[in-house]
Amino acid sequence: MSAKILITRRLPPDVERRAETLFTIKRNKDDALIDHARLVELAKGQDGILATVTDRIDAATIERLPATIKIIANFAVGTDHVDLEAAARRNIVVTNTPDVLTDATADIALLLLLGAARGAAQGMTVIREDTWTNWAPTGMLGVSLTGKRLGILGMGRIGQAVAKRAKAVGMKIHYHNRRPVEGVDATFHATLDELLEKSEFLSINCASTTETRGLINARTLALLPKGAIVVNTARGDIIIDDALIEAVKSGHLAAIGLDVFNNEPNIDPRYRDLPNAFLLPHLGSATLETRNAMGFRALANLEAFFAGKSPHDRVA
Ligand code: GLV
Repeated sequence: MSAKILITRRLPPDVERRAETLFTIKRNKDDALIDHARLVELAKGQDGILATVTDRIDAATIERLPATIKIIANFAVGTDHVDLEAAARRNIVVTNTPDVLTDATADIALLLLLGAARGAAQGMTVIREDTWTNWAPTGMLGVSLTGKRLGILGMGRIGQAVAKRAKAVGMKIHYHNRRPVEGVDATFHATLDELLEKSEFLSINCASTTETRGLINARTLALLPKGAIVVNTARGDIIIDDALIEAVKSGHLAAIGLDVFNNEPNIDPRYRDLPNAFLLPHLGSATLETRNAMGFRALANLEAFFAGKSPHDRVA
């Protein structure tokens, strides 16, 4: 008998087909968001859950999951939506999908850097609203990336892939990480404050943890040089929205680029009123190739687990 797996969201067709060949699948056919109570209900009689970032699997939910659930295979690299300690207390294994979304997410970080620096949001508005009067030597002037210092907060896989792209457009790379990363050719700063003082651009690439939540706040934003640009492809909760919006409105920041937000998809509406905010709806890993690879990776973790092996991407 194959293991019974609840898949909480629709996945790309090739991934769903493969899942059906490996396991007995309970699908969420209409792709509706599943709340805590429904997740517990749907998990009845299942052996594992293939979940993703829209499932908030907190301690209370984990405590109520049926005893048959032995693994939560996460379709995402971030696991901040799963209470890992609560899962460990119940001996539920948790896995993620690293590596396969690194390039796609770093591409979006570069898009945000360029989009914010070059006023892409305003440019699109001019085209869509048909308000382009003429090309002007002094019109819509952005900021060049070439020769500028990019501060990377979190030099993991994605941070390193952002560094590679940013170097290709001539940026100088600085970073802050818990410790210096071997083999990374960039200037390490032992403190966030020191990094921020140097960062003409800042790219947030750290995981959302109890240490990083709210790190980008009124005090830390004030350390950035005037006219800095901040982009975020990590998690919204690393930023305090009030502080970021105020820093843009006051002119301290020249522009921002965000792919992730607090309380997605109900983002702080004030972001929409900032013409110099280049905003995307959490597209970091959103290519078919990447989502397929994430799906296959999550399935490989489930396969290993039910074959009695330790899954490759175990995080709890
Ligand atoms: C997406 O945000 C992920 O963590 O994979």
